[in-house]
Amino acid sequence: MEWNVVYYEEIDSTNTQAKRMAKEGAEQGLVVTADEQSAGKGRRGRVWESPAGTNLYFSILLRPELEPDKAPMLTLVMAYSVAVVLRTQEGLPVEIKWPNDLVLEKKKICGILTEMELSGSQIADVVIGVGINVNTTEFPEELRDKATSLYLQKGEQVEREKLLQQILEKFRRQYERFLEIQDLSFLQNEYNQMLINKDREVLVLEPGHEYQAQALGINEKGELLVKKSDGSTEAVFAGEVSVRGIYGYI
Ligand code: BTN
Repeated sequence: MEWNVVYYEEIDSTNTQAKRMAKEGAEQGLVVTADEQSAGKGRRGRVWESPAGTNLYFSILLRPELEPDKAPMLTLVMAYSVAVVLRTQEGLPVEIKWPNDLVLEKKKICGILTEMELSGSQIADVVIGVGINVNTTEFPEELRDKATSLYLQKGEQVEREKLLQQILEKFRRQYERFLEIQDLSFLQNEYNQMLINKDREVLVLEPGHEYQAQALGINEKGELLVKKSDGSTEAVFAGEVSVRGIYGYI
């Protein structure tokens, strides 16, 4: 797969733009990136603040031959790829908060928003949007203990273009392996070593139902295995559930 990077100085949302271009027939491998987003989207209808000149915002378009219920695994493949790049290239001990976030010193540094379009019962396209706090020097008061940036952690600016290239290269290799194997067994152990939730008490937020459990790690399907208070183990599916710490975000 070849990447085809399209850059905008300003766009509403790179996810929205990638989805528009997908509808017009764009091929797998399209990467939409922008210096600034006027309507950056977070998960659960939240806004993703996207000022100019500082952070990395990009979305990739994939057209995988995959059962739709396996698509959420792609979010984990991306989280894993970004985490490995930030660890190896920037030397930062980034951890993964299953399934969508990356954290450093318990603060969020990256969020991922995956959107899937179906055609009948098959995947038409999957757009994976990634927002990384790169050169932010200061967060608003209300975010200061929840968010951080590469700059704040390293004390020096990071080049966004180079970071994007490294992530795309890493992701491409993992994506190809994933399509061959069709599960996450090839990265499961390494993923679990970077999993911040591991062994912690978490609140599992299922639609209409939440419960406390101990996170054990992901299985080969990317589900989070949790141990409930009655001793039984449950596999939590990444598509519709999220978790948070019992005392807060982690
Ligand atoms: C989250 O943590 O809630 C997910 C945030 C995802 C933000 C990225 S920035 C690039 C892409 N375009 C968007 O509008 N959102 C994603």
